[in-house]
Amino acid sequence: MFSPQTYKERRRVLKESMSDGIGLFWTNDESPMNYAANGYRYRQDSTFLYFFGLDQPGLTAIIDFNSGAEILFGDDPALDDIIWIGPQISLKQKAENIMITDVRPVNQLQSYLSEVIKDKRTIHFVPPYRHEHRYKLNKILDISAQETDKKASTEMVKAIVKQRSFKSKRELEEITKAHDITREMHVTAMQMAQPGLLESDIAGKIEGMALARGTGVSFPVIFTIHGETLHNHYHGNLLEEGRLIINDSGAETAMHYAADITRTFPVTGRFTPEQKDIYQIVLQSQLSAMEQLKPGVVFKDVHKHAARNIVDGLKNVGLMKGDSTDAVERGAHALFFPHGLGHMMGLDVHDMENYGEQYVGYDDETTRSEQFGLAALRFGKRVQENFVLTIEPGIYFIPTLIDLWQKDNKFSDYINYEKVTAFRNFGGVRIEDDVVINDSGCEVLGKPIPKTVQEIEEMCAQ
Ligand code: GLY
Ligand code: MN
Repeated sequence: MFSPQTYKERRRVLKESMSDGIGLFWTNDESPMNYAANGYRYRQDSTFLYFFGLDQPGLTAIIDFNSGAEILFGDDPALDDIIWIGPQISLKQKAENIMITDVRPVNQLQSYLSEVIKDKRTIHFVPPYRHEHRYKLNKILDISAQETDKKASTEMVKAIVKQRSFKSKRELEEITKAHDITREMHVTAMQMAQPGLLESDIAGKIEGMALARGTGVSFPVIFTIHGETLHNHYHGNLLEEGRLIINDSGAETAMHYAADITRTFPVTGRFTPEQKDIYQIVLQSQLSAMEQLKPGVVFKDVHKHAARNIVDGLKNVGLMKGDSTDAVERGAHALFFPHGLGHMMGLDVHDMENYGEQYVGYDDETTRSEQFGLAALRFGKRVQENFVLTIEPGIYFIPTLIDLWQKDNKFSDYINYEKVTAFRNFGGVRIEDDVVINDSGCEVLGKPIPKTVQEIEEMCAQ
C-alpha cells in the first residue's frame, strides 16, 4: 500500500472537486467460478483501491462532500471465517492505514443511506461494471438494473478522471515494477519460441511468471501466430516455421498497477525479408509517434501521424498507393490498421475505462470519430505531463476484412488488392510500449525490451 497520507490526500482532492452530496464506493465481491466458495482470482475495484487502498471484499465507503466525513462500513471476520482464511488484523486497524477513523458494521449501511435519501441529498456513484453492484444499487437505492448507468454521477466521474489521469512519482514507480516483470515475460517468450511448441506452452509459462512475481497478468495473455485477430486469446496452435508470433501481455503488481507490452517475433527467431519489411514499417510508425508526443499535443493527431507513416511504408512495399494524407483522412489505412494508437494505463490496463471512454479519452474539444478504424481510438484528447499511455501501432492482414472491402472495390484508389492477396496468410505485427509524458516529450517506461529486428533476432537466439 501507499502511505496512509496518500489515500487521505486523494480523498481531499476529490472532496475539493465535488459540489455536494455523498460519494458511495463499493469493493468488488468474490466472483464464483462454479459455486460460492470456489472463486476466480480476486481483483479489487480500482476506484476503491485508488481512494481506500484496502484489497478485500465486503466493504463500502462513504465520503460526505458537505461535511467532509469519511465512513468505512465492514465487518471483521467471524471465528468460523478465521478457521478457513486465517487470522486477520481488525478492520479498525486496516482503516488506520488509510486514515479513516469512523468504521461501522455493514448492517448500519442501509439505515445510513435511508437518512441520506430522506434528506434528499445526492448520492454519487460511478457506473457499475459488475452485476453485483447493479443488484446492490437496486436493493439499497431502489434503482432498476437498467437505470444504474444512466444514474451514475457524471460530476464524480469527471472529477475522478481529472485526478487519476495524472500519475504520481510513486505510481510511476509501481508501473515500472510491472514493467520489470513484463520484460522478463517477453524475453522468456522470445527465448522459448521454436517450431513444434504449442502457443499454450509459452502463454502458460509467462502467465505463471506474472503470478509468481506480482498478482498475475493485467489482462488475458494474447500469444498467437494469428495476430491478425487483434485480441486472440486462443492458445491452441502449433508454432510453425515461417509464422510471426504476437505476444501482447503484461503483469500487474501487488498493488495492481499494470503494464501492457506487445512484441512481434518469428517462431524460428529469424525474420523473412517480407516480415522484416512489414515489421520495420510498424517500428518506424511507433518511434515517430513517440517523437511527436509532448504536453499539449492532441493524441488523435498523433494517431493520424502514425497511420500516415504506415501508409507511406505500405506504399513503399506496393500494398498502398495515392496520397497518404488523403488515404488516412478517408480511412483507407484501416484495412491494415483498424485500431487506435493507444490508451491510458495505470491501475487498469485500459485505465478508467469503466467510467466511459468519452470522459477518459475525449472532452469538449476532441470528439470521437465514427469512421471505421479511427472510431476504435480509445484516447484522442490533448496529452498532459504525467499521463501514461500505450503507443501500439500495428499492421494486420485480416482475410474477412480484405474479402469484404475487395468485393466492393473499397478505396481501390489507395489499396493494391492484387498485392494484398499475396499477404493473406501473413498474420499481423503490433509493437507496443508504455510511455509517460514529461515536460518536453515522453519517456518509455521500464528497461528496454528487444525491439529492433537485430535485437529480437539476437534475443531469440539465446
Ligand atoms: N493489451 C490489450 C489492449 O490494449 O487492448
Ligand atoms: Mn494496449
